[in-house]
Amino acid sequence: MIDYFKADDWKIIEEGFNPTMNEIAESVFSIGNGMMGQRANLEEAYSGHSLQGTYVGGVYYPDKTRVGWWKNGYPEYFAKVLNSTYWSGLRIWANQEEIDLAKVTVLEFRRELNMHEGLLSRTCRVELKNGLRLRIESKRFYSLISKEYSALKYSITPEQGCDLRWESYVDGDVQNKDSNYEEKFWEPVTEEAAGDNLFVQVRTKKLDWHLVTATHTELYKNQQCLSTVPAVERRSKYASGTYKVSAKAGDRISLVKHAISVSNFHHSTDSLLMHAKKQLQKMAASTFEEHFHLSSNAWKQKWETADVVIEGDVKAQQAVRFNIFHLNQTYCGDDPRLNIGPKGYTGEKYGGSTYWDTEAYCLPFYLVSSDPAISRQLLVYRYKQLDKAIENAQKLGFKDGAALYPMVTMNGEECHNEWEITFEEIHRNGAIAYAIKSYIEHTGDREYLLHGGWEVLLGIARFWSQRVHWSEWGQRYEMHGVTGPNEYENNVNNNWYTNYLARWCMDYTATQYKWLLAEHTEAFKTLIAKTQFKSQELEKWAHISHNLYLPQFQELGIKVQHDGFLEKELIPVADLPESERPLNQKWSWDRILRSPYIKQADVLQGFYFFEDDFSAEEHERNFRFYESYTVHESSLSPCVHSILAAKIGWTEKAYEMYLRTARLDLDNYNNDTEDGLHITSMAGSYLSIVQGFGGLRIKDQKLHLNPHCPSQWKGYEFQILFNNAPVRVVVNPRGTTVLNQGSKAIQVNHPNGVLTLEAGESGKF
Ligand code: BGC
Repeated sequence: MIDYFKADDWKIIEEGFNPTMNEIAESVFSIGNGMMGQRANLEEAYSGHSLQGTYVGGVYYPDKTRVGWWKNGYPEYFAKVLNSTYWSGLRIWANQEEIDLAKVTVLEFRRELNMHEGLLSRTCRVELKNGLRLRIESKRFYSLISKEYSALKYSITPEQGCDLRWESYVDGDVQNKDSNYEEKFWEPVTEEAAGDNLFVQVRTKKLDWHLVTATHTELYKNQQCLSTVPAVERRSKYASGTYKVSAKAGDRISLVKHAISVSNFHHSTDSLLMHAKKQLQKMAASTFEEHFHLSSNAWKQKWETADVVIEGDVKAQQAVRFNIFHLNQTYCGDDPRLNIGPKGYTGEKYGGSTYWDTEAYCLPFYLVSSDPAISRQLLVYRYKQLDKAIENAQKLGFKDGAALYPMVTMNGEECHNEWEITFEEIHRNGAIAYAIKSYIEHTGDREYLLHGGWEVLLGIARFWSQRVHWSEWGQRYEMHGVTGPNEYENNVNNNWYTNYLARWCMDYTATQYKWLLAEHTEAFKTLIAKTQFKSQELEKWAHISHNLYLPQFQELGIKVQHDGFLEKELIPVADLPESERPLNQKWSWDRILRSPYIKQADVLQGFYFFEDDFSAEEHERNFRFYESYTVHESSLSPCVHSILAAKIGWTEKAYEMYLRTARLDLDNYNNDTEDGLHITSMAGSYLSIVQGFGGLRIKDQKLHLNPHCPSQWKGYEFQILFNNAPVRVVVNPRGTTVLNQGSKAIQVNHPNGVLTLEAGESGKF
C-alpha cells in the first residue's frame, strides 16, 4: 500500500517525479471517453519503465490461446483489447539533446488529473545535460462530445535561448504486452504525411479491423501561430513531421496536436481514411480550448447526476470521485456493441473483454447515476450476443435454445479456457438475467422484455433447466461440477449461490411469461413462435424450482457454500499468519483449493442479490460465518461485504470493507495498479456508499433509503437519477434530507416513514 498521490477533492495530484511510480501513475492518470482511452504516458521520449497503452473500443485481436492440455470445447483464442496507434507521441531536442525524463535532471514535476473537467495536465522543470533549463507544460483530454477526437497541448519555455526540434509522430507499430506469442497484431496499410497532417492506417492480422489515426499539428510562439513547414517522414505504420524553432529565454513555444482515431468498427473500411480526413479538418478548425470547453461542460453535466460528496475526509472524497470518473470514462453507452473491460481503457489485463462484472457490479452504478438509456445499452449488448450464447451452449451439449453466455467475451464467443471457469463458472448466466430485473425495477421499462429481455431470459432459463439433473437417491434436483464466484474452489456440487440463482431465473422468467401473455398478447405470440416456446417448459421449471437442492445447515442457521464445505478444516482467516497472505502468492493452488478460504463473496453475493428473501437474523449469521473465511483476494469482494455489513448495522465493519475498495488503485492496495485500474471494484466502491451507507434501493420503481453515517465522516451527499429526475440525498449524524430536483412528485421510503416530495421540495428524516 502506498500513500503517494496528494489528497484533493477534485484532483489526483502527483508531486515530484518518481520513476519507480511511473507505471502506476500512467494507470491512475488514464483518460478516455467511453469509446477510447489512453494511459497517461509521458508525451516526450521516456526510456524508463513505462506501459504504453492507447485503446480503441470494439476492435480486438483473437490471440491464439496458450493451453498445455487441450480439451474439447475450449475456445481457440483469447480476445485481446488492442494496444493501438499512439497519437500523442513527441520527440523533442533542445540544443541537440533529447528530452527524456529518465536522463535529464527533473527539478520540478507535478501531474494532475482534474476529474471535474476531464483534463490531464503536467508541469515540470528540467535541466538537460547541456545545462539548459526548460519548463514543460502539457494538457491532454479525450472529448466527451466528439468521441473520435482527442487533443494535446504541449508547451516549452526555455530559461536560456535555444534551438528546439520537435518530431510530432503517429506510431502504429505498437505491441500488446500480453500478446501470447510476442506477436505484433497490426499490419501496415497506408501512411501519409502532408504538411501538418499525418495519417496512419493499420489493420489487424486477423479479422481485418482497420484503424486510421490522424493528427493535425500547430506550432505557436507566445500565442502566435507559426507557419513553419515540417520535414515529414513516412515509414511502415509511422508518420511524423519535424519542426524547428528557435526560442529566446522566456519564449513559450507550444505545440497543439488534434487527433482523430476511427476504426471500421463504426465506419466502412473503404471510407475510413476519407472520414478521418474530413473529421480532422473539421476538428482542427476550432482551437484546443474550444474543444476542451465543450468536453469539460459535458463532464460537469455527468457530475450533476453522479457525484458523491463526503464531508470531513478528503481522501475518501477524492477516492469516490476517482472511481466515478473512471467508470464514466470507461462506458457512456454510446454503442450497444461496446462493454466494460475490467481494466477499462487503462491497461491490457483481462483482455479488455466483458465479464459478469458488468451486470453484477457496473450496471447498478449506471442505473442510479446515469440516463437509463446507458444501462439499456448494456442489456442490448447481451441480447445481440444471444445467438452466440446459444451456439456456445450447443457446443457443450445443451439444446433447444438453451443459452450459456461466456465468462469472457468480446463478440459473444467464449474466450476463456481454464475448464473450471469456462465450463463451470456458469453463475455468470444468472447475473445477466438479474440485470434485466434490476433494469426493469429501476426504470419501469418492462416493455424491454418484448425487445430482447424475454428472449435472453428464456435462453438462460432453458440452460438452467438442462444443467440440473434429477437425483434418484436424493429425490431432488442437483447441480454438479460448478465453480461459484469463489474461484478458490472448483468443480463443486450444489454451489448454493448458483443453485439459488438458477432457481430464481426460472421463476422470474415464468412470471414474466405470464405478464407478457396478459399484457402484450399479440406481440408476445410472435415471440413465442420465434423462440419455439412450449408451455410444458413452464411446468418443468416449476418442478425444478420446487425440488432444487439448496444446501443449508440448520444448526448454524447458514446456507452452505457447496456440498462438503463444512467438512473442511475450518480455521478462520484471523488465525492465519499475516506472512502467508495473500494466499494466491504464498500458497500452491492445490493448497488453496483444499482450504476453506473464500476469494470473494459467494453465498453472500446471493444475499446481496436476494436480500428480501432472508431475515435480518439470517443475514447476520451468514455474514458472520462467511466473513471469517473470506480473504477478499478479488477486488470484487469487499464491496459486497461492505454493503451487507451496513445492512445488518455493522457500520464499522462496513467502513473497514469500504476502505479496501475505495482507494484500491490510488493506494495500490493489491500491488498491481501498474497493470491498469480495477473498474469493477470502482463500481463496488460507489455502491458501498450509496447502497451500503445510504441504504438506497430502488424496487418496483420505489425509492428506499436507510442511511447511516460512518463516524469517520461528518456527513455525505449523493446525487442519483430516479425516474429520470435528479434526487439529492444529504446524510449527517443529525438525519437525512432528500431533495427532489425533478419536475414530478416522488415518494421516499425510510424506516421512519414515507415522504411525498413535490417537484423542488425537500424533506427530512
Ligand atoms: C474474479 C472474477 C472476475 C474477474 C474479472 C477474477 O479475479 O474472480 O469474478 O469476473 O476477476 O474482474
